[in-house]
Amino acid sequence: MARGLDNLSDFSIHDPYRIIIPFLYPDVTDNDYQKYLTQDRELVRSLRQDYSQNVPRTDYENDNAKAYMLAYFPYYVETLYHLLEELAELKSLPILREDNIMNIVILGGGPMPELLGIASHVKKRYPRVEKLKVSVFDINDNVWKKYRHGCTVKLLEKYGNIKMMLSEHHCDFLSCEICQEKVCKQVLGEADLVVMQNCISDIIGERDRRGSKASFSFAEIFKSLRFGALFLLCDLDYSKTNEALRECVSIVEGTELGTVLLKSIEERFEYRPNFVYPTILNSIFDGSDHLMQKNKTKSKFIICQREDWVTKFMRQQSTNWPIVIRSLESLQYCNRYTVFSNNHIERIDVFYKKNGLVSNVKTLDQGNIFSDINGLRENLIGKCIHESAPVNAPLIDPEFQERAKRMNFTIEEIRRFPYMQRYIIRDSKHNTGVVDQYFNGLGRPTRRIGQLGMSTSEHILSDMMKIFEEA
Ligand SMILES: C[S@@+](CC[C@H](N)C(=O)[O-])C[C@H]1O[C@@H](n2cnc3c(N)ncnc32)[C@H](O)[C@@H]1O
Repeated sequence: MARGLDNLSDFSIHDPYRIIIPFLYPDVTDNDYQKYLTQDRELVRSLRQDYSQNVPRTDYENDNAKAYMLAYFPYYVETLYHLLEELAELKSLPILREDNIMNIVILGGGPMPELLGIASHVKKRYPRVEKLKVSVFDINDNVWKKYRHGCTVKLLEKYGNIKMMLSEHHCDFLSCEICQEKVCKQVLGEADLVVMQNCISDIIGERDRRGSKASFSFAEIFKSLRFGALFLLCDLDYSKTNEALRECVSIVEGTELGTVLLKSIEERFEYRPNFVYPTILNSIFDGSDHLMQKNKTKSKFIICQREDWVTKFMRQQSTNWPIVIRSLESLQYCNRYTVFSNNHIERIDVFYKKNGLVSNVKTLDQGNIFSDINGLRENLIGKCIHESAPVNAPLIDPEFQERAKRMNFTIEEIRRFPYMQRYIIRDSKHNTGVVDQYFNGLGRPTRRIGQLGMSTSEHILSDMMKIFEEA
């Protein structure tokens, strides 16, 4: 089954080969392209053969990268444009955060054809965005760099003509445990849109081959995203990738982590790409085995949005619910929601305690949503806002206690305040140190302040604070 062929929004006719061919064959004159392309026919055939397996194993280090540019890159430019456009049509509000800089993370981006589709969508829908901050992660970063700079960055002028700041990262998703690496974690936490196009099949094939040494978790990536961010996965129609997409849907739907906005897993999403096909390419695509000229791009996809508990709660209210959340900032002791209601933008602070229970809900702007907020307050106070902090979570973990013990200190008491915890620490000589640890809306530690006035001495206090530094 297929969907999407007939009712797609337009993608203006484009000409990626105008940049790709001269880049791949520098110093070759127009008359000689045919000769060089014919010589590379077998490279393309072998890559196509590789991809025709259910779980491909592609080594991009050799000439496969060149063959990819010829046989695949142009076909994957438009996909994300069409998917994001379909989503925009479905939702009346802009779904991505509209700031002057938009943060995009491309996982397994290779030469990044998807960037061109994203840029075209951003240009059309988000006029306030002046720059894209793009971070790409790929195991073959060294191979793809030259294609990105020689082709994609140049093509960007034609696809949205938007400024870009590009940071490129070498990363193996199967062994770096993506979200525990600081760089990934920080970059993912700032992203507005995270995409993974045509990479799941590579990862799954490789995971099966590497066995127990390899691990990869969509849930870990999704958890690292800020609230409101989109995670878009799309891939070829292989049984293993479909399985992975289904697994992702059940992670998102089965938890409080977010929501699936749009998906097509049982049905294939297809369209006819609208690029100029130079006839010299017939030297490669001569109709022989694995060298038929393709006229459709086919994929399966899901688009999910990271959500916090309050947003999910609001969305689950009746369709008459008058408040729509536009953005969320995690402040030190509250979550600040910017909401849209009756044509007004207003702000609501939801205060919480360390254990995740909502202690108060206030409006900052004293606007006309006051009565709606009362309803919200009644519904939220006493409920747990942190998906990561169950109501009865212990105040500190045993590892922390253990560390204190190793350093010859005892955590004598921990006092809970709405947005911080006070630790009273003693050593064997009954010296005391008092440390206040503050938390943000996600329950993560932020500032730590030693209370000199309540401690035996500055020296003893600074020694005791080392327990936290090691955490
Ligand atoms: C088929 S290409 C897709 C490239 C691009 N996203 C597109 O749609 O044209 C798959 C990409 O995944 C990358 N990749 C494969 N296994 C990976 C891994 N374990 N970690 C990170 N990247 C990986 C490859 O280097 C390659 O760039």
